Amino acid sequence: MVTLWQVTDITPKYKRKEKERRRILFVSLQRRAMAGPFDKQAELYPDARLNYPEEWFSLLASRTLRRSLAWDVGTSNGQAAVTVAEHYDLVIGTDIDEAQLKCAMAHPRVRYLHTPLFLSEDDLITRIGSENLVDLVTVVHAVHWFDLSSFYSAAIQALRKPGGIIALWCYSGVEVDSTFDPVMKKFHDTTLPYWDSRMQYVFDGYKTLPFPFESVGLGSEGEPFELDIPKEMSFEWFLGTLRTWSAVAVAKERGVDLLPESVVKEFETAWGGPGLVRSVVYKAFALVGSVKL
Ligand SMILES: C[S@@+](CC[C@H](N)C(=O)[O-])C[C@H]1O[C@@H](n2cnc3c(N)ncnc32)[C@H](O)[C@@H]1O
Repeated sequence: MVTLWQVTDITPKYKRKEKERRRILFVSLQRRAMAGPFDKQAELYPDARLNYPEEWFSLLASRTLRRSLAWDVGTSNGQAAVTVAEHYDLVIGTDIDEAQLKCAMAHPRVRYLHTPLFLSEDDLITRIGSENLVDLVTVVHAVHWFDLSSFYSAAIQALRKPGGIIALWCYSGVEVDSTFDPVMKKFHDTTLPYWDSRMQYVFDGYKTLPFPFESVGLGSEGEPFELDIPKEMSFEWFLGTLRTWSAVAVAKERGVDLLPESVVKEFETAWGGPGLVRSVVYKAFALVGSVKL
């Protein structure tokens, strides 16, 4: 197993002196490398991604003291942001990728904001609202890409204290049944050389992700809260999700087609035919906490 502790300095940088903190860039240095694959998949996102259960958002909202302002980071097409907006007066959805934001879902209480490459933590806080005013920070299937200590520092600055919470979650591959799951596992193994190493956090179900926050009873560092996300899914939709995987795009760039006709056929047979809509489950892993006071 690859350990990622070497690439992530988990020293609590939010304790740095003000002057030093201003220089911390929120956007990870690897952004340039990432922007390519995400950018190319932007048009596929609206149809092929997962919708998260509304009950989960209600549960999160019930854990915050107030419901004025939420910040959805790495918002992509805003699919989490629009559901958060059912519970909060205003949601700011930020992303480093303008192409994703162009595909974002409109909602009267969601404001999308492109966060440029070189943006100091303080500039970021100014753009999303004032310090100490954010009731809920959400990062859905994205925090593993961030420079964690810089992001956590910004989140701590932004969150209302007391009463604000941060919620991060990721999801793993789909689980269908004992015929289909081994085919999925075999395919997943073929993608391993093409993932960014930070995806190991996702493969670990966020068990290894640093999370320096106070538990609010929905997971804690090393012990994520497990959430099943059921979905009725057509084969076409399933195939669409695979096509959004960055590993598939990276492999293609290196001249490797991870989804040739033979693999699609194998999936199709294990699924039970291309016309079948099946009940599947995504396993999600969440870490939710408040600022340690
Ligand atoms: C897999 S998508 C997840 C999107 C969305 N939250 C969802 O639920 O589907 C990851 C998103 O994180 C964004 N991202 C990556 N690094 C980022 C950073 N440092 N700051 C903000 N967004 C970032 C990418 O541009 C991409 O849109």
